[in-house]
Amino acid sequence: MPELRAVRGDITEQHVDAIVNAANSSLLGGGGVDGAIHRRGGPDILAACRALRASHYGRGLPTGQAVATTAGNLPARWVIHTVGPVWSAGTDKSELLASCYRESLRVADELGAKSVAFPAISTGVYGWPLDDGARIAVETVRAADTAVDQVRFVLFSDDALAIFAAALAANQGA
Ligand code: APR
Repeated sequence: MPELRAVRGDITEQHVDAIVNAANSSLLGGGGVDGAIHRRGGPDILAACRALRASHYGRGLPTGQAVATTAGNLPARWVIHTVGPVWSAGTDKSELLASCYRESLRVADELGAKSVAFPAISTGVYGWPLDDGARIAVETVRAADTAVDQVRFVLFSDDALAIFAAALAANQGA
């Protein structure tokens, strides 16, 4: 089981083996985390994403799946792109959000990555409530069968950090 930490910061500045991108299925960039990673990582990331679209993901990366590219100019070695579910009060998509964390760790294991930084997937543009997103993230990563030994949740606000810290504490005793 990896060591889990929650930190306040910018995912693009993390000195880890792999950072996880809260992407969309096009893999061609966007706002939020996605925009920051492409903006700071440089064009090599988008070029690698385009190649993935041309080779394996002609219809886009499905929600809940993950795929890796170079991290370009970022301190990390790889970017693991995953597509979170859009929040919908009517349908429970929790398993799809859990799959983003699980599949990202599976890809990290394939790469041999030992340290991974996650943003709070789906809790921005995709509208997922932070507390529930944090619970799913912590439960899924803590239960994962992975060789990754350091996972950090990188939060973009003090509120989000407090919510993830609480989720870590609540899950500690579980
Ligand atoms: N570092 C860490 N966390 C960040 C950063 C950053 N640089 N920028 C934003 N965040 C936080 C947001 O505050 C939110 O809590 O990451 C979380 C996820 O927000 P989004 O980036 O909006 O991702 P998501 O909700 O999964 O929506 C994905 O948004 O940017 C588009 O192309 C993306 O269509 C996709 C959608």
